[in-house]
Amino acid sequence: MDKALLAKTAAAMVAKGRGILAADESAGTCEKRFQSVGVPCTEENRRSYRGMLFAAPGVEKFLSGVILFDETLRQKADDGTPFAAYLARKGVIPGIKVDKGTVDIPLASGEKVTEGLDGLSKRLDEYFKLGARFAKWRAVITIGEGIPSHTCLYANAHALARYAAACQAASIVPIIEPEVLLDGRHSIERCEEVTEATLRATYAALAAYNVASEYTILKASMVVSGKDCPRQAGVQEVAERTVRVLKHTVPAAQPGVVFLSGGQSDLDATAHLNAMAATPGLPWPLTFSYSRALQNPALKTWKGQAANRSAAQQAFYHRAHMNGLAAQGKWKPELEKQAA
Ligand code: 13P
Repeated sequence: MDKALLAKTAAAMVAKGRGILAADESAGTCEKRFQSVGVPCTEENRRSYRGMLFAAPGVEKFLSGVILFDETLRQKADDGTPFAAYLARKGVIPGIKVDKGTVDIPLASGEKVTEGLDGLSKRLDEYFKLGARFAKWRAVITIGEGIPSHTCLYANAHALARYAAACQAASIVPIIEPEVLLDGRHSIERCEEVTEATLRATYAALAAYNVASEYTILKASMVVSGKDCPRQAGVQEVAERTVRVLKHTVPAAQPGVVFLSGGQSDLDATAHLNAMAATPGLPWPLTFSYSRALQNPALKTWKGQAANRSAAQQAFYHRAHMNGLAAQGKWKPELEKQAA
């Protein structure tokens, strides 16, 4: 466990005005995203699409890191450089998704737990050699009638904690991602309650496994109204409730908190981050670790055509730029009109 390296990596991940691109969609998720723009989800198309994003001129000003999928970590940029080295050359830290997705928890009415602990330490050692300096593990918490259950919060918190401990032992900073899904009719009050319970369970488990707060990054879901809830909370309310939950649960010793976008619109994800980051006296920097809210416009512009590459890169650059400003509380809706 190289503490100096862990501290350096964690601080760089949440450096001012920069955030993380989540480009670690599994082959199944990638298939859905590519289908939406009529592109076959081949290995080469995945390489070419992600390579296009990584090569966007200047985007490294706003990206501290990229979360890669196993396949991508083993692929090369157009110039033949392995992606990890390619990103590192641009000053962007390569990260790796190490969980293996979710399965049903037995006897827990359809709730999920994330798998991937078997053989994890060995995989982490290999990922370190391949250049990864941080990792991600996503747990999924669903809000519904009588759920999440204690079983679900407990099972996922323990898996996250075991994962995080294995990462730190391998000198890789763990991103701890307990995602409370926005699907459902639940109120924002209920989302706040569940998010707080989820984070409490997570931090209790992290302590039980001796995980050092100093070398972890939380990837949080924002406290929002359920997607189908009749009352949709505004930007300020989302920001206030999310910051309150984080202050109740996240140790001040943690270097930073990043957010997932979770199916929010691109502009909502930016506006919410901006409002939170503008809160005075926060104990940690807040920034983005978006997949959809960073990639949507670029994917729609790209459509698998080499001729659209430059326009897609500009669309990606724009969203990264806007979110880089939002992470400092410096974004304004007017800035969106200056889109490339
Ligand atoms: P979204 O921003 O699309 O929610 O993805 C972030 C992520 O990495 C989910 O694990």
